[in-house]
Amino acid sequence: MSVILTVNGKRHEIDADPEMPLLWALRDELKLNGTKFGCGVALCGACTVHLDGAAVRSCQTTLADAEGQSVTTIEALDSKEARALRRAWTELDVPQCGYCQSGQIMQAAELLADTPKPSNEDIDGAMSGNICRCASYHRIRAGIHRAARILEG
Ligand code: FES
Ligand code: FES
Repeated sequence: MSVILTVNGKRHEIDADPEMPLLWALRDELKLNGTKFGCGVALCGACTVHLDGAAVRSCQTTLADAEGQSVTTIEALDSKEARALRRAWTELDVPQCGYCQSGQIMQAAELLADTPKPSNEDIDGAMSGNICRCASYHRIRAGIHRAARILEG
């Protein structure tokens, strides 16, 4: 069977079971390796992508779920929130090993799009499902506050 996916603005016909996780298609078929495999069971956030602008776990999103929607991965995330986050991440040297960071930025971009000036509580609530084995949580929180200030101008 094949599934039609729109990923980063491009249409792809994927020859695969519609119940296959989106993450497999992104990494193995489309070679978009910025989206990471962590737990495979929606517990770590490493695989986070946007589906029509909403952050979802691509390890638990099937190809059938994604068909007909617009999938955005870290490679093409270019909203104003994403640009502010990238700048803040660089300024504050947020990543350590970096493995979790594309998922962190995808999640944080959704947070800032919904809540331009998030409180610590807003950040902790939105980001609690994104695990960082290097425990960069303080820098992630600071990076989101910095990005919010960048967006304020
Ligand atoms: S790999 Fe998807 S949430 Fe961990
Ligand atoms: S920076 Fe290493 S897992 Fe988050």
